[in-house]
Amino acid sequence: MPTLKINDTSITVESGTLLLDACKQAGYDIPHYCYHPALTPVATCRMCLVEIKGQPKLATSCTIAAVEGMEVFTASPAVADARAAVMEFLLLNHPLDCPICDQAGECKLQDYSYQYGSGDSRMEEPKRRYRYEDLGAKIVIDKNRCIHCTRCVRFTQEVSKTFELTVANRGSHLEVTTFQGLSMDANPLAGNVVDLCPVGALTSRDFRFSKRVWYLKPMPTISRHSAMANPIWADVDENKVWRFRPRHLEGKRATHFIFDDERVAYHRYNLDSATRLREPKLKGAVSTVEAIAETLFGAGNVAVVGQGTFGSDAAQRLAELASRENLCFGSGDKRYPLQFPELQGSGDGVLNRRGFGERGFRFGHLEGLLELVKSGEIKAVVVLHDADFSSHRENEQLRQIVVAAEFSLVFEPIASELSSVASACLPMTTYLEESDFVINHEGDLRRYQKVLTPPKGVLTLPAWVKALQRVRAAQTV
Ligand code: SF4
Ligand code: FES
Repeated sequence: MPTLKINDTSITVESGTLLLDACKQAGYDIPHYCYHPALTPVATCRMCLVEIKGQPKLATSCTIAAVEGMEVFTASPAVADARAAVMEFLLLNHPLDCPICDQAGECKLQDYSYQYGSGDSRMEEPKRRYRYEDLGAKIVIDKNRCIHCTRCVRFTQEVSKTFELTVANRGSHLEVTTFQGLSMDANPLAGNVVDLCPVGALTSRDFRFSKRVWYLKPMPTISRHSAMANPIWADVDENKVWRFRPRHLEGKRATHFIFDDERVAYHRYNLDSATRLREPKLKGAVSTVEAIAETLFGAGNVAVVGQGTFGSDAAQRLAELASRENLCFGSGDKRYPLQFPELQGSGDGVLNRRGFGERGFRFGHLEGLLELVKSGEIKAVVVLHDADFSSHRENEQLRQIVVAAEFSLVFEPIASELSSVASACLPMTTYLEESDFVINHEGDLRRYQKVLTPPKGVLTLPAWVKALQRVRAAQTV
């Protein structure tokens, strides 16, 4: 564990720590473009230069490891000069049209230019010009803005291993382009190049020019996409989510990246409050929770089916509605091919299977439940469901259970055919409208918080269960 001095601060770091990270630990942020903790360092941008005592030249802090007794200066006159020169060089061909750039407000070129740039340019020649290009349907590249940090190229080589991007030509003609005209459409991780790009060269077709980023409030949440329960940012404005982005957790390399499917999943949760269910429904007509509770608890034996894509608190509360402990059934059978084992960990598409399992929900027993319902042993079923996470077969199985039961109550944040065949429905929040937690497939507890406000009358599942229990308690007094 080497001890070194950075400016006036003495610090001891893990062996092998890069100077750039050691400086960060000591409280000095080193500007950088090409360095990214999940990619191999290449030291091409030269923005992270620092001065090391006894060395004749400035050194790239992203490629040099901290050594015992080293003395490092991060803001000496030589470093300040070098940074200003690098900024001037990077901006030679860069269009200075930040007001119309999609990256404005979260652009490292903007930030560092303001902090470290000289404000002057000696460029007299006309700037190099390209037209923007589609790299397939998901990504758009504007080569005028590219500073050739090669993060995007290294991502396709080292992480997705799809090799679509490459650096072509030399000198002022250097450009990032697709290898032999490949598109990025077949790459399920393509959207990550947009997050990696420190400038506005790579933009997402889904988000570009839909919102100025300074209006967005980043809210920490998780992705429901898979049993990884990836931590993400939901960028919110006007009670609407505008994009999902990965949210890195220290020490978890996989959390730097998310899949394109989970990146665009936010569209599903921006529900139209005018058309979604807002009131309790019984036999197709607007009703009350009292009427539904009366029918449910008067029916006889109740079984519950909880899909493992909801929170553990919801699972706990749902289980309280079952007449017996062994009448809690789990559902959800979405799976993914294990294409990127180091990022996915598992092919399970059901995010809280562990949490539901720990609360007594038995998965893979829906056939048995259908028989119990048909035989009349179970009179009523309560189903917590999201049709997107069940296969066609499982959705059909659940439909048969709901139709066969004397009474069925369905909770669906996003209504499917199951709600239309159920005896009763209660309007329920989506996961972005509630706070709860899940246990991912590695056993990590991941909390999520309410990021959107639900419409009036739409409650969380625990709130509905409490309301139903309150009615039952009042009737038994
Ligand atoms: S497109 Fe962006 S990420 Fe790729 S090399 Fe250019 S600046 Fe870097
Ligand atoms: S970040 Fe070190 S040279 Fe680019």
